[in-house]
Amino acid sequence: MTNRNRVRLGILISGRGSNMEALLAAAADPEFPAEPVVVISNRPDAPGLATAAAAGVAAVALDHRAFADRTAFEQALDSELGKAGVELIALAGFMRVLTPGFVARWAGRILNIHPSLLPLYPGLDTHARALAAGDREAGCTVHIVTADLDSGPVLGQARVPVLPGDTPATLAARVLAEEHRLYPEALARHARALRLAPPGRLD
Ligand code: GRF
Repeated sequence: MTNRNRVRLGILISGRGSNMEALLAAAADPEFPAEPVVVISNRPDAPGLATAAAAGVAAVALDHRAFADRTAFEQALDSELGKAGVELIALAGFMRVLTPGFVARWAGRILNIHPSLLPLYPGLDTHARALAAGDREAGCTVHIVTADLDSGPVLGQARVPVLPGDTPATLAARVLAEEHRLYPEALARHARALRLAPPGRLD
């Protein structure tokens, strides 16, 4: 049943969707302030789509390769989000860069989880870069999405130690466990803030 007090959440994925699962699991609690209403993947073969459907959430494949350009893809994306009445977007392993126009339209309403302690290591291969730099700790960041990649205001971070013998894969697994804890917690705080003071109408 739809709870009018919950912020309507759209989750964008491109693959496995384990962070999406963590958000769906958290939202199973009716007190969680956001309600996942749609999961959209730009890759039709993303395993996370089946997981979302099995959890009873509308799952939509929107293959970016079927569109002439990034703007046409984003128009379709915006239309799907609009149809579902989405108020807040969570990027969860979504591997497409969003244009400044899309981000401006959803200003303050797109969150992302990034597997590094931003501002360290924006972009890809974060764990390999942390190991190559000899870092003694690593972690993840939830932030508001702005037009500059992985640079928006930070909503929360979690830290893990780098252990002797770590590989990018072992470090990624340790960080991922923290991602699953951090994302629902940081998103809930933002959703509560949005509910109290909506930053502007989407029309
Ligand atoms: C996560 O490490 C996330 O931080 C990054 O992409 C990965 C997605 O994993 N943005 P999953 O699809 O959520 O399992």
